Amino acid sequence: MEQATFTARYGPWALIAGASEGTGAAFARQLADKGMNLILVARRARPLEALADELRARVECVTASIDLAAVDAAEQLQGIAAGREVGLLILNAGADPNGAMFLDVEVASWDALVARNVVTVTRALHAFAAPMRARERGGLMVVGSGACYGGLPGIGVYAATKAFDLVLCEALWAELEPHGVDVLSFVLGRTDTPAHRELMAARGIAVPDGLADADEVARLGLARLPFGPVCNWGEADDVAGMSASSAAQRRERIRRISATFSTDAKG
Ligand SMILES: NC(=O)c1ccc[n+]([C@@H]2O[C@H](COP(=O)([O-])OP(=O)(O)OC[C@H]3O[C@@H](n4cnc5c(N)ncnc54)[C@H](OP(=O)(O)O)[C@@H]3O)[C@@H](O)[C@H]2O)c1
Repeated sequence: MEQATFTARYGPWALIAGASEGTGAAFARQLADKGMNLILVARRARPLEALADELRARVECVTASIDLAAVDAAEQLQGIAAGREVGLLILNAGADPNGAMFLDVEVASWDALVARNVVTVTRALHAFAAPMRARERGGLMVVGSGACYGGLPGIGVYAATKAFDLVLCEALWAELEPHGVDVLSFVLGRTDTPAHRELMAARGIAVPDGLADADEVARLGLARLPFGPVCNWGEADDVAGMSASSAAQRRERIRRISATFSTDAKG
């Protein structure tokens, strides 16, 4: 999408939660290239500020050090965004730093994962989608994982939170499409990010060949934003590899059932 078309479609500001490195930083750089002003959020202030300094020559940048697992994280996001028209929300933070079987860490670790990936995602989507619907333009992207398509040992809670995000995005896509708001669950495979490398190092696993490149991932995500509700990294729209159904089949299923509901409601 051309730069002018992109800012016209989404508006002047983008908020990226989990912006300081990896795919989050790649989204930030590419959105700056498209002329979008940026609100950059993560826990560590220093890498955020370094990124903002790099991008300020091109666009306005605001940073905020927020723990997205905090009970009031969504309110903090709204606070930093106050007075700015946020037309694009990218919820990128979401990896599981535990790398453990369900019973091998304290339940508080799972609480934090659910708080960040489920509670804050829900509240932030609710808070930021409402003004987008009123303006009849905007975009919402939740960065997901192929883990969303089924439970596996060692990633049970992570996979369950990603399944929640996928299903919520599908519903929001159907609800908000008539109001000009794009919604995408952007489902990643293994991607070369600092967080993923740290996790592999902690587990004593060598970095495999063929990890996806964060810049390429971000480019695809922004290109597919208008074609929700799902984009599976590395798969064409009509290919079902990660899941039992392709992105296109999932979209058609939602359209078919939604149409039945609206016919029933009219009848
Ligand atoms: N990398 C992969 O192989 C892979 C595979 C499938 C899906 N994904 C998905 O891709 C997304 C990005 O993954 P990633 O590997 O880059 O790791 P990540 O830890 O989810 O993301 C890194 C970014 O999120 C921030 N962040 C993490 N936890 C946060 C919290 N509680 N509060 C605020 N900011 C937080 C980090 O900065 P701070 O540490 O400073 O907070 C950093 O900016 C995630 O949703 C993940 O599930 C990744």
